[in-house]
Amino acid sequence: ALRRSANIHWQHLDVDRTARARIKGQLPRCLWFTGLSGAGKSTIANLVDKRLHALGYHTFVLDGDNVRHGLNKDLGFTDEDRVENIRRVAEVAKLMADAGLIVLVSFISPFRAERRMARELFPEGEFLEVYVDTPLALAEQRDVKGLYAKARAGKIRNFTGIDSPYEVPEAPEIHLRTAEAGPEQLADQLVERLLRDLR
Ligand code: PPS
Repeated sequence: ALRRSANIHWQHLDVDRTARARIKGQLPRCLWFTGLSGAGKSTIANLVDKRLHALGYHTFVLDGDNVRHGLNKDLGFTDEDRVENIRRVAEVAKLMADAGLIVLVSFISPFRAERRMARELFPEGEFLEVYVDTPLALAEQRDVKGLYAKARAGKIRNFTGIDSPYEVPEAPEIHLRTAEAGPEQLADQLVERLLRDLR
């Protein structure tokens, strides 16, 4: 099939992404948080963001719940919509990294294929997959938003972990086990790892 972009040509820009990042004294990065609903992705991403910001890094957080209120408000939770959700946010994250930012992306992003697609948008070493590993039983027990109860009662369809799949990351750069440590400690671990990389 003819791609819709077939007659669109890439416009070259003289200021490249390295120059844009250099002006901020940092390197672009994409921290891609993945995990079940209620795993703690947003909590940890927020803590990491706060710490990096306090250290003078220019960061930005893209969060599923927020992006779904704007850019992706036309999308629901079928497999097809989740694929499109992740495709769009990956492209946005790439634009932000091109602008020189450290971008934190916090979406369930349940499918390996889409996470791989996101990774492939970035130069080698710039994309770090952060698996926020919370066993389903624990996420369900915490049920901060009451969504698991609704899903079990059949009031929400296609709920991740209940009647929609979550494909566990096979080789994440960073594996955070929330059953074993609190969000503050996990955020510290992640920041330390990132700073080693950035210095
Ligand atoms: S995805 O799978 O990456 O497209 O999901 P995401 O954009 O991260 O959105 C997940 C948040 O939406 C709420 N929610 C649901 N999650 C999973 N399944 C279903 N059916 C669903 N319906 C609503 C839920 O609050 C998720 O937030 P988090 O922060 O992950 O708990």
